[in-house]
Amino acid sequence: MPEELIPNTNIGVVGHVDHGKTTLVNTLTGVWTDRHSEEMKRGISIRLGYADAVFYRCRKCRGPEGLTTTPVCTRCDSETEPVRAVSFVDAPGHETLMATMLSGSALMDGAMLVISAADRCPQPQTKEHLMALELVGIKKIVIVQNKIDVVSHKEAIRNYEEIKAFVKGTIAENAPIIPVSAQKNINIWALIQALDEVIPEPSRHPEADPVMLIARSFDVNRPGCSWKDVKGGVVGGSLIRGLVEDGAEIEIRPGIQNQVENKTKWEPIVTKVTEIHKGQKKVHIATPGGLLAIGTKLDPAITKSDMLAGQVLGHVGKLPPVWEKMWFSVKLMERVVGSNSEVSIEPLKQREPLMLSVGTAVTVGVVSNTRKDAAEVILKRPVCASLGSPIAISRQVGGRWRLIGMGTLIE
Ligand code: GTP
Repeated sequence: MPEELIPNTNIGVVGHVDHGKTTLVNTLTGVWTDRHSEEMKRGISIRLGYADAVFYRCRKCRGPEGLTTTPVCTRCDSETEPVRAVSFVDAPGHETLMATMLSGSALMDGAMLVISAADRCPQPQTKEHLMALELVGIKKIVIVQNKIDVVSHKEAIRNYEEIKAFVKGTIAENAPIIPVSAQKNINIWALIQALDEVIPEPSRHPEADPVMLIARSFDVNRPGCSWKDVKGGVVGGSLIRGLVEDGAEIEIRPGIQNQVENKTKWEPIVTKVTEIHKGQKKVHIATPGGLLAIGTKLDPAITKSDMLAGQVLGHVGKLPPVWEKMWFSVKLMERVVGSNSEVSIEPLKQREPLMLSVGTAVTVGVVSNTRKDAAEVILKRPVCASLGSPIAISRQVGGRWRLIGMGTLIE
């Protein structure tokens, strides 16, 4: 990645299972985000994947056809100049993985909704993911009509009409629809142009106290490595505001669970930043936007296997509060979408379990109190969040968690 370019925008990749999200991210970035053996075996994305891309412009080709994601022009082999770097957040499309998709949506500044031209539109998770974008308030959307290499011109047009009818009246009504083949690299320049236009770098607040939403956490050591070479735990995610410097003392909340006199207590983790990686480069200061990985002095046992996913990182004593119980406003939809039977949504009931997505955290809680358009929930795992944070509400319907509405943290 060129020196001067560091990703500053996160673009979500959402859509129904198998419509080509991971292939598209590979075409745009050269990275296969299905990195886990289980994901490879099952052929679906289970966890959030992420990868960075640089958009380049050919020095010779005129017009948008000269846009590419490679340093050499794919049309004429000429040199290019870098224009912009972005990070992609690849969300899983399988219906059982909606919670992961929702936790990813907290990081997205805009999104590509990938729709296969080879299937009727809309498929269940095409609907559910668009609704999630709508509820979370992600308005900057580019629709990618993928797999055009396997349909005729007539079928592609029919599919386009179906997509148009499906998005009518939604947040994506005016989103551009770009026909591509992720696998055959067709029309990718048009997609780059649309992404650049529709999803510009958002305005950030680098002067604010830093808040990083952790989406993944890792133990990067190889099994059996010498204790002298052991590297501290690594967390990955996105800074939504503020700056984090190499060497800074940091806090992670809610932290780790401890048993004190038969009671579970969550204690914040305090540690030090040992390195910062952004856009595959080591940097001294992490800036907002784009995805980053922060190395720490933590015991890697604490960070392995996404154990800190959903937590929040910032300066010591400067993070939002931790909530074990919270009131939030409730706005329910009329019907459950995303399954084949679209049942109507009843009001929240006392003692019913809910799954709540707050930032990148996904937690289960039980409704302990309700009042008009608001509910109180006691959480199994606490969350760190500011007042006013959006909350995606899911309920068990037919044995699955289904998105039923949106709320805002009020007290
Ligand atoms: P999940 O992450 O599990 O939701 O799936 P996905 O949307 O990431 O789909 P993935 O990229 O894994 O692609 C699914 C299948 O479609 C794979 O076999 C791909 O090779 C194929 N595929 C993806 N894009 C294209 C395309 O443009 N044309 C054709 N013919 N096949 C494609």
